[in-house]
Amino acid sequence: MPDLVPEEIERYAEEHTTPPVPLLAELADETRATLRSPQMLTGTVEGRFLELLVWASGARRILEIGTYSGYSALSMAAALPDGGRIDTCEVEERHAEVARRYIARSPHADRITVHLGPALETIERLEGAFDLVFVDADKENYVNYYEAVLPRIAARGLIAADNTLWSGRVLDEQDQSEGTRAIRAFNEHVRADERVTSVMLTVRDGVTLIRRNP
Ligand SMILES: C[S@@+](CC[C@H](N)C(=O)[O-])C[C@H]1O[C@@H](n2cnc3c(N)ncnc32)[C@H](O)[C@@H]1O
Repeated sequence: MPDLVPEEIERYAEEHTTPPVPLLAELADETRATLRSPQMLTGTVEGRFLELLVWASGARRILEIGTYSGYSALSMAAALPDGGRIDTCEVEERHAEVARRYIARSPHADRITVHLGPALETIERLEGAFDLVFVDADKENYVNYYEAVLPRIAARGLIAADNTLWSGRVLDEQDQSEGTRAIRAFNEHVRADERVTSVMLTVRDGVTLIRRNP
């Protein structure tokens, strides 16, 4: 993934971010050693960002779309208040298996549920409102995820959508691949939506924070 931010700046930011706890470091190593597309892992800086977002928002009910090996779910769980919980959706059995194994070894095993299957089906089955939704799965469904969860965001809730800069390819007009067109369409959809207030952050591969207007 080409760097949106100069590599030395990314490295400096990572060196000045609290390192991951040993279990997360081990998870990251196993992910890189055994799973396909390890660049999908959120990693140190974005993991701490999500953790502090949960901390600052006091989010109790979190929905994650795209578990992979569980790094971001475990990062967010570290800041959950008592009684808080995370529902995370994953379609690939191999990914869910790794995530479940690390979640079981973590102090958060009773607060994270991995739902195996297509996320849109899982979202329909889940009840209630969400304080935070982290969207980080198949880009082609981003608008569908957004429209499925926006009505279910709590009054002070947030949506955080990952990869909204898509390695800079959002600006490359030559790139008409399905993923790039899907991210562009999502970004335009959010920008044009008067129901929300949003900010696109140049954190890692782009994170867009969205809240519903009162
Ligand atoms: C970018 S990764 C998620 C990274 C993860 N949040 C982390 O921090 O490590 C995207 C994940 O979404 C899963 N996925 C793709 N399409 C999906 C779908 N329709 N429903 C559920 N999960 C899906 C992929 O298998 C992959 O594990």
